[in-house]
Amino acid sequence: MAGENLTKLKIDNVYKEYQGRNGKTIALNGVSLDIKENEFICVVGPSGCGKSTLLNIIAGLLEPTSGTVTLDGKVIEGTGVERGVVFQQYALFPWRTVLKNVMFPLEMKKVPKAEAEAIARKYIKSVGLEGFEKSYPKELSGGMKQRVAIARAYAADPEVLLLDEPFGALDAQTRVQLQSELLETWEKEKKTCFFITHDVDEAVILAQRVIIMSARPGRIKKIVDIDIPYPRTQATKTDPRFLELKSEIWNQVYQEFLEVRK
Ligand SMILES: Nc1ncnc2c1ncn2[C@@H]1O[C@H](COP(=O)(O)OP(=O)(O)OP(=O)(O)O)[C@@H](O)[C@H]1O
Ligand SMILES: [Mg+2]
Repeated sequence: MAGENLTKLKIDNVYKEYQGRNGKTIALNGVSLDIKENEFICVVGPSGCGKSTLLNIIAGLLEPTSGTVTLDGKVIEGTGVERGVVFQQYALFPWRTVLKNVMFPLEMKKVPKAEAEAIARKYIKSVGLEGFEKSYPKELSGGMKQRVAIARAYAADPEVLLLDEPFGALDAQTRVQLQSELLETWEKEKKTCFFITHDVDEAVILAQRVIIMSARPGRIKKIVDIDIPYPRTQATKTDPRFLELKSEIWNQVYQEFLEVRK
């Protein structure tokens, strides 16, 4: 496909320090990465290494202290509809129904109501929530709420999807199911995905490249190409190559975890 190898997002020497009550914290210390159009990237690394900081900078919710992030060659300034974010804790509007939650970004984009509703219904169905359009978030389980958040992100049709441990709070079964659904959706409607996870299994099953970050201050320690063809299913997790890559990445992450504990 044309454009397949174009750089979509360019992270260029991003440095971020926070000024906290206990002084200065360097969260990111020179992170550079080129992410290609439609690429699926997973980021792993020990707690506190700056993963969320990096995602929030790409989302435009935080500014880097120095360095830049460019999208299609344009420096990112603030948030934008072309970048959709899914957080670990389902950030839904409690006073809006499922349908109205998913329609929200379309309202922001001023999509005509009937069209917005049709798009929202399509994505609600694709995440398996048909029949729950009129429910409120409080009437849903954690996994269902996370499905709504994902449907909403997809309905907005962003060019880049930024996901910060979106399945972190879920039970193992729901997590595996949502991984499969996300894979299927990504294979159908390619998007550039930047997905943070603590779970090495999850990173290897989803990603084309896994970015391993070092302990704080966060830098990129290693990039591992996941040379396992798609479609991938849960059965892929027993593939010898899968197990090999998983143990390689796990060892690297564990070394960094030990650094934190020192
Ligand atoms: N608003 C803030 N003010 C001061 N320090 C902060 C702030 N936000 C994050 N930090 C610090 O920056 C570092 C990186 O935080 P960040 O949330 O990016 O880590 P993370 O890799 O996402 O961790 P986790 O895996 O636990 O989510 C941490 O040491 C944290 O204490
Ligand atoms: Mg985080």
